[in-house]
This record gives sequence, C-alpha cells and structure tokens, in this order.
Amino acid sequence: MKILAISGSPRIEKRSSTLKLVKAVAENTGYDCDLVSLAGKKIQGCIGCMGCVDDNICKLKDDFTPLREKILEADAYILGGCNFFSTLNANMHCFLERWYQFRHKESSVLWGKPAVTVAAGGRLTGPVTAILEQFCMYNFIQVVGRADGLGANGCYFCGYGETCKVGAVYARYGAGFQLTEEDIPCVSKDEVCMEKARQAGKTLGKILRAGHDREKATKEVKDAFMEMMQFKNNR
Ligand SMILES: Cc1cc2nc3c(=O)[nH]c(=O)nc-3n(C[C@H](O)[C@H](O)[C@H](O)COP(=O)(O)O)c2cc1C
Repeated sequence: MKILAISGSPRIEKRSSTLKLVKAVAENTGYDCDLVSLAGKKIQGCIGCMGCVDDNICKLKDDFTPLREKILEADAYILGGCNFFSTLNANMHCFLERWYQFRHKESSVLWGKPAVTVAAGGRLTGPVTAILEQFCMYNFIQVVGRADGLGANGCYFCGYGETCKVGAVYARYGAGFQLTEEDIPCVSKDEVCMEKARQAGKTLGKILRAGHDREKATKEVKDAFMEMMQFKNNR
C-alpha cells in the first residue's frame, strides 16, 4: 500500500503545525508514507488551458511534475493545508488545482481512494477542512478522517509581537506582555488535537488493511456529490 502525505504549508518544519499534524497522521497508519512538504516548492496553479484533456497529463513543467506519478501510484492520501485569510493557503491550492489533469474523459484514477484531511490555522481551521473535503468530493476521493489544530500566527515570532498593536499577540494578551517560547501556539502542545491526528492515521491504516473497496467508496462519494450539486443525470 502506498500513502502519499502532503503538507501544503510554506513553512519549514520547526514552525509548521500542518506538517506536524500530517506527520502524526502518517506515522499512525502502520504504513511507510511518502511525506512531501510543499515548503520551498514552486508550483503554479492550473491555467485552464485544457492541454491535459486528451491524455490527462498537465503540460506545465514545475515542481508539480515529479509529484504527478506519486499521486497516481498512491492508494490513499493525507492532504494538509493551512488557513491564510480564511481560505486554503495558496501553495496547497495551486497543488490541488493541478489535479484537474486527472479527471478528463471519465478517468477514474483517483476515484474511491481514501483520504485524511489536515488543517492548521491561527484561529480557525474550519474553512480549510471544508475546502479540502470539497476538493476530495469533486474528485470522488473518500474522506475517512480529519485532523486539525491551531498553530503559531507569524506575529509570535516576527520580532514585533509584543509591541505591534495590530498583531495577534497584542490582540490576545494586550500591552506589556512578555512573550516566551512557551506562549507560542503549536499543535504539538495540544494533546487533544495530536491524539485526533493519531486516531485519523489509525483509521486510515485500518481501512486499507481491511481491503478498501474503491468501487463502493466511489459510488458513495458520487451519490453524495450529485446530491450536493443537485445534478439529476449522472447517476
Ligand atoms: C498570510 C497569512 C494569513 C493568515 N490568515 C489567517 C486567517 O485568516 N485565519 C487564521 O485562523 N489564521 C491565519 N493565519 C495563521 C496560520 O493559519 C497559522 O499560522 C498556521 O499555523 C499556519 O500553518 P503552519 O503552521 O503549518 O505554517 C495566517 C497566516 C498567514 C501567513
């Protein structure tokens, strides 16, 4: 079994709550996961050129190109992103947009595969989870678990956190607050969310070990999608 685990945060490991959660999910599946961080990668969004329509291969060449094969080969996905301005961060969004190449002419390469979504935010994770979930639905990928937690807003380590009156530290603690490393939020300090991530990983592993029925999963997701979109003719 191959599991592809993606952390869409542009941050390096030390600061990235998305990456920590993705790792926690991956390490608990019971499988060796291929963990890919998008930090430092240059991946542009889909340009809608339809160059992929004949062969389901995107013609843009960038850091997505070597990931294409990994996506196809994977039996399951762990998809992590973070909240930037109340939506999915751009790195991860660009990465996911490029999955458009897999869908033409009823290509079923993604259909029915199980996935766990992972979301980090400074204050809210809901918008990210919702977008990742909807992305999975559009591609008939079955979400079998979710992990999320709060990470450090940049204001905690930008150097001006204690004095900047429009920053997150000031908003939370007020004037005169002396910031220490202890005060910097991170999912690894939140046992409840780490445990939720570990459980999501265990669930994914269990589903794969039990012999995940992709055809059944495809039908379930397709039906839910058609219902949501109120499509009548595609069943
Ligand atoms: C450009 C930018 C915009 C952000 N906007 C939001 C936001 O609207 N809501 C929120 O809850 N957190 C917001 N955050 C905070 C991040 O979601 C938070 O730092 C999260 O931990 C980032 O994930 P990471 O730790 O994996 O890098 C923002 C951070 C950045 C850099």
